[in-house]
Amino acid sequence: MAIAQVLALSSSTSSFVRTDRPKVRRAAPSRVAAAAAGATVGEPARRLVAAFDPAIPLASAVTPPSEWYTDPEFLRLELDRVFLRGWQAVGHIGQVKNPNDFFSGRLGNVEFVICRDAHGKLHAFHNVCRHHASLLACGSGQKTCFQCPYHGWTYGLDGALLKATRISGIKNFNKNDFGLLPIKVATWGPFVLARFDNFAQDTVDDVVGDEWLGSASDLLSRNGIDTSLPHICRREYIIECNWKVFCDNYLDGGYHVPYAHGALASGLQLQSYETLTYERVSVQRCESAPAEQEDIDRLGTKAIYAFVYPNFMINRYGPWMDTNLAVPLDATRCKVVFDYFLDESLLDDQDFIDQSLKDSEQVQIEDIALCEGVQKGLESPAYGVGRYAPSVEMAMHHFHRLLHTNLCG
Ligand code: FES
Ligand SMILES: [Fe+2]
Repeated sequence: MAIAQVLALSSSTSSFVRTDRPKVRRAAPSRVAAAAAGATVGEPARRLVAAFDPAIPLASAVTPPSEWYTDPEFLRLELDRVFLRGWQAVGHIGQVKNPNDFFSGRLGNVEFVICRDAHGKLHAFHNVCRHHASLLACGSGQKTCFQCPYHGWTYGLDGALLKATRISGIKNFNKNDFGLLPIKVATWGPFVLARFDNFAQDTVDDVVGDEWLGSASDLLSRNGIDTSLPHICRREYIIECNWKVFCDNYLDGGYHVPYAHGALASGLQLQSYETLTYERVSVQRCESAPAEQEDIDRLGTKAIYAFVYPNFMINRYGPWMDTNLAVPLDATRCKVVFDYFLDESLLDDQDFIDQSLKDSEQVQIEDIALCEGVQKGLESPAYGVGRYAPSVEMAMHHFHRLLHTNLCG
């Protein structure tokens, strides 16, 4: 599996600045409003949702049918009912640390850009030019405005249309109506979150923790998931599997670790594994085996693996934190973005960083092989549904039940 490094930062600036900016009015185009309101569910997708019964207790339950992992219509339903509702992790605060920083991304068919304006205010917009729909910002970096690469319409970092080129003679056009369409954005700890179902501009950050993490937010912030760790690097993997295959692999309570991750298993006390479930979060905890050498060890004494429904994983172990974001690309392919954060005291220890990243990379390669194998199995006519191992796979069952609830809603 090839590994793509994070998009190279691009740096581009423009001297176009306007100071007497009028208040921006933005009309949500009807298709965006329709997506936010929820699409009609087709009968086949409805039948697929109903094929999983969340009321059956774990010990007797069967897993969702394989079509949940292979059917393009089902993915469309997930995008509408799961990803385009509620808070979604989209990046980390280091990406928009300074005024004029921005990064762009895509979730389903939603193209978005997150930026910090010259006054330090965070914004998110649909990354689509209001002239003829060209994508506007590309990658990440710093900009004082967004100039469309197609015909040069130019927007401020607050979304206002600053300049519409060559429109002399146009009628019934008010450029205040053609600003970028806003997306709700907030931060929690080191993470940037967006929600695509609400056009309100102002967000109170202190309610976001409750909305995003529910009663697990205290536990996570008490266990070192905070802004104290600097970001080290990003790794991106394109994996030939449905996004849920990656999540299921994460949520099996360490079941696969002794079979698939020999090196990692020797560093963990797997008998100490425990799983806690909250409203939209599950937390798996495991103690580490004592390190053999005097060296600082990568895993520390305790590891916490938090899964934030639907697709964000936060791993806190020793001096490290890494996050994994599983982004669906199509029904049988996803992109997983790994961000690594490290305790400040170790920033100069390049050998430790290199060795830790190498060890982590080994685990990812092993997991990718498993996930791609599972996807092929799911596509085989031999497989329909499976079973859960009740003593370890409770977080996976919790995930599937949450999905079922959202998909019915
Ligand atoms: S599409 Fe953006 S200026 Fe024409
Ligand atoms: Fe694994």
